[in-house]
Amino acid sequence: MLKVTARAHTNIALIKYWGKADPELMLPANSSVSLTLDQFYADTTVSFAAETGNDTFVLDGVKQSPAATQRIHQFLDLVRARTGVRGSATVRSVNHVPNAAGLASSSSAFAALALAATRAAGAELSPRELSRLARRGSGSATRSIFGGTAIWHKGHDDDSSFAEPVPTAPSLSLRMVAILIDDRQKDVSSRDGMARTVATSPYFPVFAATAEHDAPAMVAALAQGDMEQIGQFTERSAMMMHGANMAAEPPFTYFAPATLTAWAAVRAVRDAGLPAYATMDAGPNVKVLTDATHVDAVVAALHAQLDNELVVCAPGPAASVIDTTE
Ligand code: DP6
Repeated sequence: MLKVTARAHTNIALIKYWGKADPELMLPANSSVSLTLDQFYADTTVSFAAETGNDTFVLDGVKQSPAATQRIHQFLDLVRARTGVRGSATVRSVNHVPNAAGLASSSSAFAALALAATRAAGAELSPRELSRLARRGSGSATRSIFGGTAIWHKGHDDDSSFAEPVPTAPSLSLRMVAILIDDRQKDVSSRDGMARTVATSPYFPVFAATAEHDAPAMVAALAQGDMEQIGQFTERSAMMMHGANMAAEPPFTYFAPATLTAWAAVRAVRDAGLPAYATMDAGPNVKVLTDATHVDAVVAALHAQLDNELVVCAPGPAASVIDTTE
């Protein structure tokens, strides 16, 4: 029995994915661009039994209920259909995140699972094929197959919707500072939140059209190393996503009071002349995009204003197999 462990890192979207054109195939409404981070990752071990039966999913040492295993089970069915393996799987996943402030992510989870499960089933997929497969588990996982910066081309069918790496100018060394905000409120999952926004928010079409326009422009700005453009596109995409949520029916938001405080602190850092641009996802944490030259000054300036824990991230590597045992 082959047992394979894969590691995949979380990515943060600079141009957001926030809505599906096809929920079954997990095709997004727009293309998106991301940065994979070195500090947050998932290690996932998969083995298939010879016999059919229920899949087992153990997350951070805790065996998950059948309901919590359902999404993993459906994804493993795709792997079984593709590889011809029929047996039940045991999946053990460990999230490496600094604390419990909602940074565990489905992007690293399904990228690691796609790689570990296909290898455990004896198949070796190309990065593009893995990206397409990971997409079926969670949209953002499409991009976590790759390290550094990546674009997810929205595509129009299963074949054409995948991510690939995009280069950044040699002069540009991106850094992302995570400001950890733990609001303990009840969350709206990203899956449910985006579905509500697609279905009801009059701002959603504008968000998606702007993101579709900004994704190639972001790729060009990354290639040119134009930090100001990169930062402006990043903030615009995040704010438009969260604006669309506030206009949904019923409206909702991931902003906590501390989120606004953090966002204001980032603006103050920028007003002081440092490159610092904020983004946030389906939770209250704020992530600050800057570069290696200025990151120490940005961290010091944020610390001067905020009590929150800060985690400095550099671009992370592509998903990889870290252990294989017979
Ligand atoms: C805000 O990938 O978690 O992080 O495809 O339904 O699994 P599903 O959603 P998910 O959504 C991520 C949304 C986001 C923005 C992004 O990563 O592009």
